[in-house]
Amino acid sequence: MGHNPILVVGSLNMDQVVRVCRMPTWGETLLSPSSLQLVAGGKGANQAVAIARLGVPVSMAGRVGTDPFGTQLVTSLQADAIDTGLVVVDQEESSGAAFIFLGPDGDNAIVVVPGANMRVGLDQAQMFAISTAMRQARALVLQLEIPLATVQNLVATAWHIGIPIVLNLAPAQPLAVETLRQVSVLVLNETEASLLSGQRVSSVEDARIVGTVLHEQGIATVALTLGSRGAVLVFDDAHGQTCVIHQQAPKVQVVDSTAAGDCFAGALTVAIIEGKLPDEALRFAVTASTLKVTRFGAQSGLPRRAEVDAMLH
Ligand code: RIB
Repeated sequence: MGHNPILVVGSLNMDQVVRVCRMPTWGETLLSPSSLQLVAGGKGANQAVAIARLGVPVSMAGRVGTDPFGTQLVTSLQADAIDTGLVVVDQEESSGAAFIFLGPDGDNAIVVVPGANMRVGLDQAQMFAISTAMRQARALVLQLEIPLATVQNLVATAWHIGIPIVLNLAPAQPLAVETLRQVSVLVLNETEASLLSGQRVSSVEDARIVGTVLHEQGIATVALTLGSRGAVLVFDDAHGQTCVIHQQAPKVQVVDSTAAGDCFAGALTVAIIEGKLPDEALRFAVTASTLKVTRFGAQSGLPRRAEVDAMLH
């Protein structure tokens, strides 16, 4: 089991990053102060890279098109020693793309054009290959940039096999309660938590309350990310008592918050696999994602293990 990989099933996107001073309004044309930058991204692929750079073997399952972006996205994963044997080249749809507007404070607004990602697992052959790989995996990591039916199916299969399931509810979409109850760790940001709970989440206190409500609905561990305010983790201790912990994020200069949530999800998965205690695991994930926001780009900005360890100590 020690060398078995973590299996990530999700999206691969070529991120087209446009710097803007502010968001345009409808009907308005803005000039960007710099040139277009292309960076490998996609929530699934980003989480796979985050895990690989933190030192755990990873297999990635997904779908790209026959276009050059597809080849670049796969090559980029291989550069981080990620097994891409389950990334199918789709003959009909083009590779996923994301249009990222990056503001001066490192904030962003993203439009994803899913392309081939929305065909992940729709064919029996890929579903069978993924389910087979899952039997050798240490954990399954999912997000919502692939069909919801695929996500629900994979969660059910992983639950039957008995491996930990980490689900990042991004981008925000409602999901069946039965699926959420089969998940070991649900990772969500303020927007996603608000959508799922129907309650506004805009402070650490809100996160504590909403995280507890979701946990009481049967989600084993809830991780709520809060940007510069860190993250909240809700889980049961060894005696079955609900515990709620908050980890503040170290203060840094934010360059680009893209993929901070992916970094958090990946790092939390690594920490859990390594058997870290909840407070240590949360600190590890918050530290990794804080490092991410100090760097440009999705995969280009994801930190390595030694950097996270150095910041922790
Ligand atoms: O979470 C960040 C990612 O969201 C970007 O890399 C982009 O591709 C979108 O999927």
